[in-house]
Parts: sequence; C-alpha cells; structure tokens
Amino acid sequence: MGEGGCDSLERVGNIPPLDYWIFSTPHAEGPMDLSSIFGANGSLILDLGAGEGSFIIDYAIKNPQACLFAIEKKISRVRKIASKARRLNLKNLRVIHCCWEQFLLRHCMPSSIDEIHILFPDPWPKRRHHKRRSIKAPVVQAIADVLKPNGICRLLTDNREYFVWSEKLFHLSGYFEEKPLALPSEYPESLFQKRFKERGILCYQALWIKKTAL
Ligand SMILES: C[S@@+](CC[C@H](N)C(=O)[O-])C[C@H]1O[C@@H](n2cnc3c(N)ncnc32)[C@H](O)[C@@H]1O
Repeated sequence: MGEGGCDSLERVGNIPPLDYWIFSTPHAEGPMDLSSIFGANGSLILDLGAGEGSFIIDYAIKNPQACLFAIEKKISRVRKIASKARRLNLKNLRVIHCCWEQFLLRHCMPSSIDEIHILFPDPWPKRRHHKRRSIKAPVVQAIADVLKPNGICRLLTDNREYFVWSEKLFHLSGYFEEKPLALPSEYPESLFQKRFKERGILCYQALWIKKTAL
C-alpha cells in the first residue's frame, strides 16, 4: 500500500471471508443504494476513517433504528470493527474497506446521507504533505453532493491548523451553515477523543449543515 493510499480487498492476503459485517464496494464504478443493504429506511450515517470503531459501535448501540457505515482503509481495523459488531450482533452497522474519499465520490448516491462524522482525520501537519489531506475542495463538494438537505457533517480534530483549513473550505464551498458545537457533545466518544481527553489536549469540533437552498 502506498503512503496515504488504500489497500484493496483483492490485494490483501489472508482476508477474512466476507460476512454480514464486512461489505466490499462493488468492482463496478457507480453509486450503491446503501439503504437497500440493510433493507431498512433508517437515517444513513457514515463514520469516515473509523479506526478501531469505538465511536460507531457506541452510536449503533444507542441508535438501533439508524443505518450505519464505518469506512476504513486499513484491513486490520476493518476486521477489528467487524469482530466487535459480530460479538454484539449489531445488525445496523456495516464496515466498508475503502478510501473514504473514493467511497463518497464513486459509491454514494446524491442527497442520500443524513450524517457524516470525520473524527481525527490524519492531519499531515507538514506543509509539503498538505496535498495528502483528505479534506480538500473536491471532497467538500462530494460531501455537499451526498448529504441530504439539512444533513450534517461533523469534524473533530486536535490539529487547530487542519481545523481552520477545513472551516475555510466548507465556508468557501457555499453549501453549508456552520453550527458551533462545544465539547463534550451528545455524540459517543471515539478512541482518539478519549486519548486526547485523558492527556488534557484541546480538540476542535464543528458541525456543518447542508443548506436547503443556495
Ligand atoms: C487518527 S485515526 C482516527 C480513528 C477514529 N476516527 C478515532 O477518532 O478514534 C485515523 C483513521 O483514519 C483512517 N484513514 C485515514 N485516511 C483514510 C482514508 N482516506 N480512507 C479511509 N480511512 C482512512 C486511518 O487508517 C485511521 O484508522
């Protein structure tokens, strides 16, 4: 796997058999009807870069009517989330092994998603690495495209410079209103959030709501 790149399920040896929880994106390009995967009409919620899944597992337990997807590029973490979901028999959560930017750009239907959570995206703090950041103008455009009107995108990070960079991109896109959201919020904590809290490190959170009319 290239730095900042993604494994593909086909290339990774010793992959687990695909089961209820690990869902592979189709080989064909094109949007997927995510609701039909669950056969349910609950709100569609995405956790982009889900890590080992603390946030999304808790969210799934507390919101049994919602349909949740954890998107994660590292196969070891995909397996970890899936095995927790399997142990808890969580039927409202699936894990997708994919780069989340590609998932939004290729596989989500327009105006279909209720909530997007981006928790502690890799900050790539050095200026020469900024191009590797996931949050960039075309990706903010993709977020605007896939969210329903009034759908939300939440960002949480410990990196103030990446936070300001992201705020600027969301603002410039013209698609969103920003709602201040103090910490702690009503959402379950992610593993990184817990770690930073324990170490007394300040984190920054924003919630952008997709405008109903431009
Ligand atoms: C810093 S960790 C945060 C994990 C989790 N969100 C949390 O708050 O505990 C970032 C995670 O995002 C994943 N990741 C980074 N870039 C990604 C991408 N483009 N697509 C999918 N996952 C990505 C990494 O593999 C890692 O698990």
